[in-house]
Amino acid sequence: DEPFEGGRHSFRLDKISAYEEENCKKLEASSGGGRTVVIDHPLVRHKLGLLRNKETSSKDFRDLVQEVAGLMVYEVTRHLPLEETEIETPIEKTRVFTLSGKKLAVVPVLRAGLGMVEGILKLVPNAKVGHIGLYRDPKTLKPVDYYCKLPCDISEREIFVVDPMLATGGSAVAAVGHIIERGGKKISLVSLIAAPEGIATFHEAHPDVDIFVAAVDSHLNEHCYIVPGLGDAGDRLFGTK
Ligand code: PRP
Ligand code: URA
Repeated sequence: DEPFEGGRHSFRLDKISAYEEENCKKLEASSGGGRTVVIDHPLVRHKLGLLRNKETSSKDFRDLVQEVAGLMVYEVTRHLPLEETEIETPIEKTRVFTLSGKKLAVVPVLRAGLGMVEGILKLVPNAKVGHIGLYRDPKTLKPVDYYCKLPCDISEREIFVVDPMLATGGSAVAAVGHIIERGGKKISLVSLIAAPEGIATFHEAHPDVDIFVAAVDSHLNEHCYIVPGLGDAGDRLFGTK
């Protein structure tokens, strides 16, 4: 099984973790394209290891997904513009930095994306939250839509689409497509674990949208689950299996 060979997987990885060095070398060898950023902070890698463990309980799994999502916010928001303003400390006047530029929106892909929202909102509490309902049909593996509600000023916001798993990429491609149809312009995808196949498919469909992930795994199995992955994120979050 050589999932990284061939022209299908054409994308560039920024910020490569040692853990994924071997995978990433192969990925980088393929040609240009969109930007995938791997967030490889030790705390993220540690918590991801706990998430992958099948013995981790639903409660711990939920807490860990929120924590990893929160840690990823640092990297995902690194480019946000700041403006200088003057304030007074109890001692004297000084200049401080305040976030400026576009307001933010977080859009979870239901269900599993919901598990990341609170962790992100802890750090960007003024972000508005939209929802996109999609599930992957177990037979066709194609995304099936059932809900879409976005903030009315979505075209003026910087948007983070969140879904823990990027497997075939079908769900993420559809979710971002719905947001673009409704006027969304500046969009990033934030996932915990991605398969190379999903990254390639996503960049092909939405070449201007960056992907932030905590790990790039090996490949998809015959049921299009990520290997080694963490299993079914929605079921593990909500205890439905
Ligand atoms: C999972 C996951 C993604 C999708 C990824 O959701 O949360 O949305 O599968 O697979 P893809 O990249 O091949 O489309 P699922 O369809 O299981 O729904 P759920 O969140 O309701 O459990
Ligand atoms: N959805 C999941 O929850 N996990 C996978 O590995 C693939 C799709």
